[in-house]
Amino acid sequence: MRKPWYSFLYVRSPITKILYGILSVIISIAALGAQQYMEEPRMAAQTGNWEGRSIEKGAEIFANNCANCHGLDGKGLSGVAPALNSKYFFTQRLSDLAYTGSMHDYVELTVAAGRPSRADRQWAQMMPTWGVRYGGPLRDDQVMHVTNFVLNWREESLTQSWDPTSENLDPWQPFQDGPSRATTGSITYTVGMQGALAVLPEQVAGAIVTPTETTEVTGPRTGRTLFVSLGCGGCHLLGDIGVGVTGPDMNQLHEVAATRVPGEDAVTYVRNSIVDPNAYIVENYSAGLMPADLATKMSEDELNTLVEWLLDPNRTYE
Ligand code: HEC
Ligand code: HEC
Repeated sequence: MRKPWYSFLYVRSPITKILYGILSVIISIAALGAQQYMEEPRMAAQTGNWEGRSIEKGAEIFANNCANCHGLDGKGLSGVAPALNSKYFFTQRLSDLAYTGSMHDYVELTVAAGRPSRADRQWAQMMPTWGVRYGGPLRDDQVMHVTNFVLNWREESLTQSWDPTSENLDPWQPFQDGPSRATTGSITYTVGMQGALAVLPEQVAGAIVTPTETTEVTGPRTGRTLFVSLGCGGCHLLGDIGVGVTGPDMNQLHEVAATRVPGEDAVTYVRNSIVDPNAYIVENYSAGLMPADLATKMSEDELNTLVEWLLDPNRTYE
């Protein structure tokens, strides 16, 4: 009779049996180890894949919900919303705010809850509430995706430069809500949508209003105080206190105001521009950007003072 192929299992010697046992244990351990070893890169690949898909979804959410204020490239719109694709944002912003949490938490919380700041401080509108649990339109997973998308700008933003002659300028706009580089810095800052405009540190420092400056004022405010505290300078260039380029340069307003609308003298025109910004749209600028309720934020006397001050070529910025 022929021996079956597994005849090697018919072992008599106990030593050999023990050896077989040890051998099979070793083989099992090796197999487990190998599997573990291969699992790690597989998991990493999975995670990368998942993150990539999350960022893609986030990109779509951003384009549909955020781009009209923060710009499609996340570089902000002057006077409308701050840049997120910004070296300043990723390197300095949190320490300026003395925020101790992570960048991820800061973005996610801001997006979910919004920023119920006073709209007349610096930006044309408030940062809306997005998270469904705070009454916004986005589900938790959508907030997470758009957060991942914003955080994904980090690497690109770190290549930005603070040298105003650079092609790749950091598009940040100085914030009014906290000490920012501009109040202490010694380099030259640039602000504005295209980053085309170089602003010296002392100019930016002048444009930054600390909340106390506006709240301590009693009695009618001066033209300068109104201009700064109502955020006009976030959209209009003026002397050393207006830094925005969303609206027309105001330095020559006294020369052009009377020529804008037939039948309106300079005072009437400027007054109307504030009371009803969309009644007349300056050529090459967009309607609907200048807030229409600014006149309700000052008294009649203050409005007159502001108009007079804006039209005075000898105004001071103190
Ligand atoms: C209506 C305009 C508007 C829209 C739309 C908008 N934002 Fe904002 N966002 C703002 C403004 C204004 C601020 C600054 C608020 C402040 O500091 O008072 C801001 C602030 C932020 C900040 C914090 C920036 C910082 O440096 O503190 C993040 C992050 C942000 N927005 C993300 C988003 C995302 C993501 C979306 C879309 C889901 C979005 N925003 C949609 C206006 C907008
Ligand atoms: C969010 C940006 C924004 C803010 C804030 C803003 N403006 Fe404007 N402003 C514009 C834009 C855009 C225009 C041009 C479109 C138009 O004519 O309405 C404009 C036009 C004007 C004009 C007409 C200028 C010209 O050359 O004919 C005046 C005057 C003016 N703004 C005054 C003010 C004053 C004063 C404030 C603050 C109380 C202010 N703006 C705040 C965006 C802004």
